[in-house]
Amino acid sequence: MTNLDLYAKAEHLLGIEEATEALYDLYRSELDEYNVKTLLDVGCGRGGFMRRMISDGVKCKGVDLSSVMVEECKAQGLDAECIEAKDVDGKYDAIVSIFDVLNFMDKEELFEFLEAMAEKLNDDGIFIADINTLYGFKDVAEGTMSNESGDEFLNVDAVFKENELHTTFTLFEKEADGRYVKYQDTIVQYFHKIELFKKLKGLELIDKQNFSLYDTEDKTLFIFKKRK
Ligand SMILES: C[S@@+](CC[C@H](N)C(=O)[O-])C[C@H]1O[C@@H](n2cnc3c(N)ncnc32)[C@H](O)[C@@H]1O
Repeated sequence: MTNLDLYAKAEHLLGIEEATEALYDLYRSELDEYNVKTLLDVGCGRGGFMRRMISDGVKCKGVDLSSVMVEECKAQGLDAECIEAKDVDGKYDAIVSIFDVLNFMDKEELFEFLEAMAEKLNDDGIFIADINTLYGFKDVAEGTMSNESGDEFLNVDAVFKENELHTTFTLFEKEADGRYVKYQDTIVQYFHKIELFKKLKGLELIDKQNFSLYDTEDKTLFIFKKRK
């Protein structure tokens, strides 16, 4: 199991449903300002945002590097693939990366990703994404939490150092024979300075808003348009 698959197995114990819904509302209202008929959701997770946009009449495609997430999308009849976003066919009116997806990439991967996304946009296409602010990493994400439900127990331990958040997930799952299986892995998230987003060849930053998801201004939302 990869670290992203472990995240997928543990996500329902993190208590982030409300925050996720609030993010979807924000993205949907931003997308409303544009004429979006086709959408690519990169890091689509379980496909919650795609389901919303499909109900608004938008044709959606999702990619995620966790096969657990992608299988759940497919089980709901969504068009999802477990491939890198740069390998997706076709062009889209809008691309989104919702809930810290860009923080999963280091600086080099992020640059390459953003330039590749410019190539996947139709003329006048937009790309919307959010990232954690430094405050969001240091004062909100860092720390320890645990939760349990039924036959599962999760511990999450996050440490922020040198602009990286190292989050160790430890999940215990009870088997049919009563014994517990332990899964443990670490996900690294990278803090990115806003300057990085202003220097892109393919995308022009047209709007930037700090907003509060869990706490004061813990996130930044970026809206880019494809450069002509
Ligand atoms: C915090 S979850 C958010 C999921 C979804 N966007 C949502 O709002 O529910 C981050 C997701 O990004 C995926 N991910 C991380 N790095 C990725 C990458 N380079 N390309 C595609 N997906 C990625 C993870 O597997 C995970 O499903």
